[in-house]
Amino acid sequence: MRLELAPSVLSFDPMYMGEKVKELTEAKVDWIHLDVMDGQFVPPITFGAQFARSVVNLTSVSVEAHLMTLSPEKHLEEFAEAGVKRFIFHTEATHHAHRLCQLVRSSGLEVGIAINPGTSAKAIKPLLDVIDLALVMTVNPGWGGQSLIDSCLDKVSEIREWAPFLSIEVDGGIDDVSLPRAEAAGANVFVSGSFLNDVSILEGVKRLRQACDSKSSQQSC
Ligand code: DX5
Ligand code: ZN
Repeated sequence: MRLELAPSVLSFDPMYMGEKVKELTEAKVDWIHLDVMDGQFVPPITFGAQFARSVVNLTSVSVEAHLMTLSPEKHLEEFAEAGVKRFIFHTEATHHAHRLCQLVRSSGLEVGIAINPGTSAKAIKPLLDVIDLALVMTVNPGWGGQSLIDSCLDKVSEIREWAPFLSIEVDGGIDDVSLPRAEAAGANVFVSGSFLNDVSILEGVKRLRQACDSKSSQQSC
């Protein structure tokens, strides 16, 4: 499977967001990951569809929205209109995850379903046929800069066994050391936030690419 980098802009200073998005574009990352938080599903509040539209207009890179909001179905239309390519929501945030997966696809977007560290992989097993990506949170959602929770990687392996060709994304605590461990567990899409704020974006992306295991049967990122 192709390995893909999906940097999150969460850790960047909002005053310099445009420059950071341009740098990510120059670094030719595969996705730009937007962490949408509503102050209810998780305590912090970040940004919404208007910001997503600005990012989409500024970059040639595909943009994915990771909704950490209650009732994600209420926001689908505005994110679709904003031009995001993938809509990712939490199975814990809606009573009708299967129906929402169908709705996202019928809006012409790819659909991803996310699970918190405390949620069993089995919670999304019945959805594997109707999604394009499973997002396994490797930290508790809400904040960048946390350490990866090891037990979450077992869930990645579990899902990989059930779905050999599904894109599996890991989000939280991913750097050049933890990426190969997540890859070995079966992940192929890597969100990274604060790691890219500690060094320059070009340098950080380079280190993440080097960390992708070129010896594996997967196509390097
Ligand atoms: C956390 C977000 C992540 C976050 C990752 O709730 O979903 O996307 O930005 O940040 P790091 O890489 O710092 O854990
Ligand atoms: Zn995220």
